[in-house]
Amino acid sequence: MLPVCYALLQYLTLYMTKVEEYGLLQKQIEAIISDEADVIANMANISALLFETLSDVNWAGFYRLVDNELVLGPFQGKVACIRIPVGKGVCGTSVAEDKTMRVANVHDFSGHIACDANSNSEIVIPVKVKGKIIAVLDIDSPIYERFDESDQKGLESIINAFENIMIKHGVVN
Ligand code: SME
Repeated sequence: MLPVCYALLQYLTLYMTKVEEYGLLQKQIEAIISDEADVIANMANISALLFETLSDVNWAGFYRLVDNELVLGPFQGKVACIRIPVGKGVCGTSVAEDKTMRVANVHDFSGHIACDANSNSEIVIPVKVKGKIIAVLDIDSPIYERFDESDQKGLESIINAFENIMIKHGVVN
């Protein structure tokens, strides 16, 4: 039954706006992660679903903030750098500035860390538990300016749902 529902949902997305697509994607993600308390397992499924669903994406995954350093977490895509100091690269800047980074052209971003030479644009969103950053979601694309404001809003809403599920399961930061 699940594969049939999944195929139907994929078919429906052909006729949906981006906002509707993100709404549906969020519902799929919530259905998959809401009963699971393990943060790593949920990050793994979120990256898999984002990588599979979003067009023109060559890397999607998480870096976890461990002892004030970003450490590679669950992801889909090519092998990536393992540790990123806070303040370095797009990911470390997102943590240092506590905000989503939407980079239209990574080659114009001073200090960008190139894990996959095919990446040309990137979005990084902090993941928080009770106001404290515990990770970032990083998505790369080979297309310049791949991520617009509606992508940012849709992805931030998905991350917000993930944060609420972690809080529901008593995850502490
Ligand atoms: N480009 C990122 C590094 C991580 S990879 O893109 C997977 C950055 O500049 O922080």
